[in-house]
Amino acid sequence: MTDLEQDHAGRAAPVEAWDAIAALYDEHVAPGEVDVAAAGLRLAGVRAGDGFLDVAAGTGGLGLPAARLGARVLATDWSPRMIERFEARARAEGLDAEGRVMDCHALDLRDDTYDVTGSQFGVMLVPDQPRALREMVRVTRPGGRVLVIAYGDPAGFEAFQFFLGAVRAAVPGFAGPAADEPMLEFQVADPHVLHRRLVGAGLRDVTVATDQQERITVRSGRELWDWTIGGNPAPGMIVADLTPEQRAEIVRVLDRMVGERSGRGCSAVLTAPLTIGVGTK
Ligand SMILES: C[S@@+](CC[C@H](N)C(=O)[O-])C[C@H]1O[C@@H](n2cnc3c(N)ncnc32)[C@H](O)[C@@H]1O
Repeated sequence: MTDLEQDHAGRAAPVEAWDAIAALYDEHVAPGEVDVAAAGLRLAGVRAGDGFLDVAAGTGGLGLPAARLGARVLATDWSPRMIERFEARARAEGLDAEGRVMDCHALDLRDDTYDVTGSQFGVMLVPDQPRALREMVRVTRPGGRVLVIAYGDPAGFEAFQFFLGAVRAAVPGFAGPAADEPMLEFQVADPHVLHRRLVGAGLRDVTVATDQQERITVRSGRELWDWTIGGNPAPGMIVADLTPEQRAEIVRVLDRMVGERSGRGCSAVLTAPLTIGVGTK
């Protein structure tokens, strides 16, 4: 473990926590990521026939759309349960894609191999991100591209703010995430930081786009709860000690919030700003 990984170890969810949400992630989160993935793959210029490496791939939010474009995909993630789900989906669609379990801080892959190496909402949140980015650059061929899709400013991340607001309303005294320890998830929310890190990892011609957003469509408080709890272990840890009554109240508050947002429509669209970086090796 590197010094940075050790310093941040308490702030990063362990692999078991990701394994535990793999099924929810596969059902409620990854299918809604196709538009974000398409924007990232377009910015990175992914084409049919490219060798594409997906890092911290989860159940395939980025890797499956890349394979559908005709890229030859290797999806890597440290969670065996996530990779099992990725492989099942790739098999069901007959895609040219395989999965392998590995930690993104030390990719067990050869130098200078992939045309494009990408990570969507993955390397964004790991404890030694500079090291993970250097690994992504190492395995990319000279002239190839590296793509990082991350969340932008958490204040504009509506689903996350709805969830925190509902917990505050249902649990008087709930303080929310500690302000002095920003969540690792948002370490490159600032486009200047992402730019600096991509250059620091050895990339040239780095561009960082902030004009894209994720759009999450939900029809009820329960759907928003499933999306939030299934998308990352952190919200589950926030509500871990609450009683079943308090959890039920959070879902009721979320339901009201979703209803107010959707007006007379049957579904609400919540947005989240994105920070998307691309560089050339
Ligand atoms: C929010 S999910 C994103 C998954 C996928 N890229 C997507 O866009 O749907 C974060 C993923 O990072 C993986 N992850 C977290 N730490 C990791 C590490 N050190 N090495 C490899 N994968 C990691 C988790 O297992 C999880 O699948």
